[in-house]
Amino acid sequence: MSSRLILLALWSFCMVTCCLAQNSTVETEEEAMAYLNKYGYLDMTGGMPNTEERRRALEYFQRFANITMTGVLDDETLVMMNTPRCGMVDMNSPADMMRKKRYALGSRWSKTELTYKIINRTPDLPADEVDRIITESIEKWADVSRLTFTLVTSGDADILISFAAGSHGDDGPFDGPGGVLAHAYYPSSNAIGGDAHFDEDEDYTDASSRGINMEWVAVHEFGHSLGLGHSQIEGAVMYPYYTGYVPNFQLNSDDIAGIQAHYGENVGEPEDTPPTPVDKCMTSITMATRTLDGSTYLGNATHLYRRLTDGSIPDGYPKVIGVEFPGLPTALDAALFYPPNGKTYFFKGSQYWRFRNQRMDRGFPRPLSDWRGLPNDISSAFIWSRNGQIYFTKGDEYYRYYPGYGVLSYYPQPLSQWDGLPSDGVDAAFQWTNARTYFFKGSEYYRFNDRAVTVDQGYPINTATAWLGCDSDQLVVGPTSSPTTSPAAGDAVVLAPSMVAVLFSTIAAVFYSFQ
Ligand SMILES: *[C@@H]1O[C@H](CO)[C@@H](O)[C@H](O)[C@H]1NC(C)=O
Ligand SMILES: *[C@@H]1O[C@H](CO)[C@@H](O)[C@H](O)[C@H]1NC(C)=O
Ligand SMILES: *[C@@H]1O[C@H](CO)[C@@H](O)[C@H](O)[C@H]1NC(C)=O
Ligand SMILES: [Zn+2]
Ligand SMILES: [Zn+2]
Repeated sequence: MSSRLILLALWSFCMVTCCLAQNSTVETEEEAMAYLNKYGYLDMTGGMPNTEERRRALEYFQRFANITMTGVLDDETLVMMNTPRCGMVDMNSPADMMRKKRYALGSRWSKTELTYKIINRTPDLPADEVDRIITESIEKWADVSRLTFTLVTSGDADILISFAAGSHGDDGPFDGPGGVLAHAYYPSSNAIGGDAHFDEDEDYTDASSRGINMEWVAVHEFGHSLGLGHSQIEGAVMYPYYTGYVPNFQLNSDDIAGIQAHYGENVGEPEDTPPTPVDKCMTSITMATRTLDGSTYLGNATHLYRRLTDGSIPDGYPKVIGVEFPGLPTALDAALFYPPNGKTYFFKGSQYWRFRNQRMDRGFPRPLSDWRGLPNDISSAFIWSRNGQIYFTKGDEYYRYYPGYGVLSYYPQPLSQWDGLPSDGVDAAFQWTNARTYFFKGSEYYRFNDRAVTVDQGYPINTATAWLGCDSDQLVVGPTSSPTTSPAAGDAVVLAPSMVAVLFSTIAAVFYSFQ
């Protein structure tokens, strides 16, 4: 075959594929203006925009898309305009254009118990998979808000979910593969309010980087069904552009802040009342850890406090765990700050999560079996200040863990070896910034004397009083900056090398990369 023939063959192949997608591409200045008009950056009801209006609309678009604000239709802008996206507008009003980079709100439902109904399904995936993805996607919003969802199969529902190609009976016809992936309607009493439509011309996939991840599109559209607009935060699910398949994808803190601004946080109360402020003082602490930014976290199964380096607790705490650490479940078993890599690990059942400050690392949660020899459902985790090594407790036993090796062979050992700790176990433990090791049990905590290898004199002490600045009798917030009993105060150093031999033990092993 001559090279001319090959070129011809390539060209005709290209023509076919290009023409299939042509309907949704933006190439010319006019197509770009139509795009900006469609997504709310430009109002063309009064006719074609003048040069100044074009430049400003392009700048608003570039600002929203987080690309260089040139005011002209450059390549970067064209690439963005040709990225698959949601069909809803980005800008609801001119004031939107200059809003802060965060979530946007539309209308809201005046009730919190909502129903949804699946009208039809895409043939791209098995029907039960489609149903599962839809339910899991909508429940992601219930997990972090006061909303509840019930799937109905007959009668009407608040949110009707359907798949359709091209024109499908509303004023937002779909455009074939690519381009617009889906759209949904804000809450309203109109029949169409809350409904979510998916472009059937897309190739929907699950847990694959091929095609279009249906879960991401569904969570995004249901966000609109609940009254959220488009966010400018790239990691938010309400970002209008499809960003590809992400394993273990979770709502972003911006998404959670948005839905909670409309409906309040999930406080596990069934009745339909405004969110009640949480009780300020935690009576028992079951999780204690730190983050690289110097924060100390103390929490129970559902909420946590953040204590800054100066001892103060910022406004807004206690917060729901998943709001502070997006992607974390409630009722965690333990947490561990590991200074060598600056990461904070959270443990629950047979899984663990890794964070850098308040942001989860990619690819988590992972199975606890990464921590060789560690049992599921641990109680606490800490670095012991005396030797800098990692310890875990589970009930009345403890384990010593060596990075790169696993749990050392002669563990578990009875927790009663830690003189002065409650022998039936502790709820939480950590090494604090003063390099002392603290143990929490019920409403009290213990400070461990690493040299004497025993609990310091005068402990246990009421946790809420010392750490949360609460009056222990009335449990109201006191002066948080100067707790009556500073956890850092006092430093009795008594040497009593009683059972040091058991807690220590030399081991010949090299450090491998840490999980
Ligand atoms: C794009 O496709 C839709 C439906 O497939 C059709 O209604 C519309 O006219 C097309 N637009 C263009 C510019 O070809
Ligand atoms: C904008 O882009 C920069 C660089 O890609 C990124 O670091 C930043 O997080 C983006 N901003 C938003 C709001 O997503
Ligand atoms: C956790 O503490 C918060 C704040 O004091 C409280 O509202 C919540 O009920 C507690 N949760 C549990 C499971 O005890
Ligand atoms: Zn959208
Ligand atoms: Zn539609």
